[in-house]
Amino acid sequence: MKGVTVIGHPLVQHNLTRLRDERTQPQEFRRLLGEIASLMIYEATRSLAVVPLAVRTPLERARGFRLAREIVLVPVLRAGLGMLDAILQLIPHASVGFIGLKREETTLRAVFYHKSFPKNLRRFEVILIDPMLATGGSAVAALDLLFEQGAKGVRLVNLVAAPEGIRAVRAKYPAVPIFTAAVDRRLNERGYILPGLGDAGDRLFGT
Ligand code: PRP
Ligand code: URA
Repeated sequence: MKGVTVIGHPLVQHNLTRLRDERTQPQEFRRLLGEIASLMIYEATRSLAVVPLAVRTPLERARGFRLAREIVLVPVLRAGLGMLDAILQLIPHASVGFIGLKREETTLRAVFYHKSFPKNLRRFEVILIDPMLATGGSAVAALDLLFEQGAKGVRLVNLVAAPEGIRAVRAKYPAVPIFTAAVDRRLNERGYILPGLGDAGDRLFGT
């Protein structure tokens, strides 16, 4: 699928399978989601732009690089929080923004309740984090908000994506790359991903 990178790394797939397992309890779920987020972010940041930078080693001059743009991580509350800490371990200099969205159970409409971003979002490379891409309503609402705030480069990192959600994001934001560990079969009548892993927020926080 154009613009969609499925991260098939064996460690990612091993952890994803354990996350899907209904017997996996919140403590273990949080650990596995963190581990998988670290592995996925490596792939999702592979194409970040760099600029040349020379430094002096104790011996001589060395050519190197630095990231061209600052990075902001934006988890979608709540479930996106499950990936945040692990990603921050790898990109400790990143800023962090938040988007609060809750999908209404009956309409499946994403209802907005919170946002906070660093000033001048256009300066940043934005990594939008949400484990689940189901109807795509939450991802599209989050992207609407980010672009309204002036974001330029945004990449979306999910754990499990439904074809319906991918289509919705690609229809409105064809230039936003999507990284996911799996593209699942379809949504059920209640908007849950099949086979999916259930409600990611509930499984993370035991609610
Ligand atoms: C879940 C998930 C996504 C959204 C995906 O969040 O974390 O944000 O649903 O569904 P969609 O693609 O159909 O919009 P939810 O709204 O359940 O909130 P929570 O993370 O607080 O549980
Ligand atoms: N949100 C989830 O947490 N899981 C789904 O399967 C769909 C939306």
